Amino acid sequence: MQIAPSVLSADFAKLGTEIEEITQAGADWIHLDVMDGHFVPNLTFGPPVIKMVRGFSNQPFDVHLMIDRPSRYIENFLKAGADIISFHVEAEPDIDKTIDLIAAGGAKPALAVKPGTPIQTVYPYLDKLYMVLVMTVEPGFGGQSFMGDMLEKVRALKAKAPELLVQVDGGINLDTIAEAAKAGVDCCVAGTSVFGAEDREQRIFALKARAFDAIAK
Ligand code: DX5
Ligand code: ZN
Repeated sequence: MQIAPSVLSADFAKLGTEIEEITQAGADWIHLDVMDGHFVPNLTFGPPVIKMVRGFSNQPFDVHLMIDRPSRYIENFLKAGADIISFHVEAEPDIDKTIDLIAAGGAKPALAVKPGTPIQTVYPYLDKLYMVLVMTVEPGFGGQSFMGDMLEKVRALKAKAPELLVQVDGGINLDTIAEAAKAGVDCCVAGTSVFGAEDREQRIFALKARAFDAIAK
């Protein structure tokens, strides 16, 4: 199980050193939530901030775009140093073009689905995708409760495309990660659980241990 701490729960006043710290604490990827106040009712940051903090970690930058018509900005996120770019199937009229832009720029394309969106909406694109992001909360805010019924989507994806990476995002903590692991999730985003922990290194380790134990059983 890969752990991608979401910097949405970091101290934005010292974002660079927060990213440096979670990298040393064992983060596999750095998850960056980009929100535009249209696709989701919240605002965060965009390419200039990502570019500024890129140098604080050598781990992959996993950029989760919660913005309308993301194809308009792919070039900017590539230049800022994104390694994986997830965009929402609900937000983009030309999904093929957006996937191609990401791949042509040397990054890995991923499609994300909100809780109310059927997983079948990503099926036409599976061959071209590196990953599918299954939201386990309504996108927009950290600290919400995990929606366990979304794991049905994970099981469906894993049955259809066993090689495809599947990520879940929202409400992952020490109590919920076992269930996600058993469903076949490859990467868990964790915001509050990692950044809110007294000892972040210990927390990342404990999350991985719970996932490992759940699969071993
Ligand atoms: C929500 C974001 C998540 C969020 C997760 O829209 O995509 O990445 O930060 O936060 P937690 O882990 O606190 O649910
Ligand atoms: Zn996210």
